[in-house]
Amino acid sequence: MERIKDVLISISSKLLDSHTADMEKAITEVLDECRTALNVDRISCLPLDNAVVENWFHYEAIGVGIPPVQKQIPASVVLEYRRLIEQGQVVCSDTSPDLMELASNLQRERPLRHVLIPIRAMGKPWGLMACANFVSSQQFDEDFVHSATILGNIIASSIARVTHYDELKRSQQEVIARNRRIIGERERERRNIARDLHDDFSQRLASLGIEMGLAASLCDEASRPVIMQCANGLADITRDIQHLSRHLHPVVIERVGLHAAIESHAKQIGERTGLIMTVDLDHDVVFDDETALHIYRIIQESLSNVVKHANASQVWIKLHKHKNQWVDLIIRDDSVGIANQGMVMNSPSLGLQSMVERGELIGAQVSFKSNAPKSGLSVKLSIQQMGDH
Ligand SMILES: Nc1ncnc2c1ncn2[C@@H]1O[C@H](COP(=O)(O)OP(=O)(O)OP(=O)(O)O)[C@@H](O)[C@H]1O
Ligand SMILES: [Mg+2]
Repeated sequence: MERIKDVLISISSKLLDSHTADMEKAITEVLDECRTALNVDRISCLPLDNAVVENWFHYEAIGVGIPPVQKQIPASVVLEYRRLIEQGQVVCSDTSPDLMELASNLQRERPLRHVLIPIRAMGKPWGLMACANFVSSQQFDEDFVHSATILGNIIASSIARVTHYDELKRSQQEVIARNRRIIGERERERRNIARDLHDDFSQRLASLGIEMGLAASLCDEASRPVIMQCANGLADITRDIQHLSRHLHPVVIERVGLHAAIESHAKQIGERTGLIMTVDLDHDVVFDDETALHIYRIIQESLSNVVKHANASQVWIKLHKHKNQWVDLIIRDDSVGIANQGMVMNSPSLGLQSMVERGELIGAQVSFKSNAPKSGLSVKLSIQQMGDH
């Protein structure tokens, strides 16, 4: 028992000290430590909940020359094991000879002794620890079962932690993939609307403008000012539609590149709002089209936020490449800033959230920093450039 106490302390600290991402390795190591301490030829931990018939994933520690549990376990064997686990009783080949028949289906060689010990994780039945002896003649007595149960419960809790972590990682990846689809779909729709606005509405308005010009030249003097006023109104609408179309899908990125598109957008905002814009873009930085579009959208949203919320007078946009291939994009204003960032990030508005999501899609980190009180907000995007860029 003293020996088991030492193993217990050793494996507990190994499992507790391991980072969740490295747990698989730690579990395999501690399982082997338990195998040696318990003097068993093979230990396998088999979970109950994902006992997928014919592909029962398990952790295992095997002595030299001992056969592993085979990968493809016959469905009838899995179902019988499940039934035994659900009973929650220790089943030993010494007292239940039928178990030897069942156990011999797990591998080519028949073990001398076999025991199934139910183990629990986080207070609930988790699965079983199966111990098999092929060479060692050790009996699986009460003391053995007691020690194996204690060790097995600790290992089961750690495996449950890994499973939980994997599920969390998988669901995070699913969320990112879903966001990618939604944002991609939104971009496609925006592009279609932008094209319709440009190719259809703008053209029809332009020819209406030409016809109005013609009407103005043919009409009497009294009607001319009214027609000219309509023509001017029409010209304004046409320009607004062009702006809208460009905003919806910045074809300008494809045509003149991201740098020129940012400069042109910043200039437009400056002219429209009176904000002093300082744009400093490192021309060595090159992005693929998808990344460029997301970056442009992040800048668009940041500037639109400055106009809507900041009451600022100046904005700085800086794109800078570090020597270590990291690129930073910073959009900073001299506004009042955001007093309570936590509250803002949890609010139902979409702008800041969508910047973070777009960042995730392109493998960038987006962060918001409210500078000293009343000295503005910085939106920072950091991305690592691969290859020759
Ligand atoms: N540059 C800024 N200066 C000051 N406050 C800001 C700035 N940018 C964002 N905020 C604050 O953060 C909040 C959240 O911004 P967010 O862009 O998510 O939403 P929104 O602009 O209100 O709505 P939308 O969903 O249309 O973008 C804003 O309502 C505003 O209070
Ligand atoms: Mg916004």
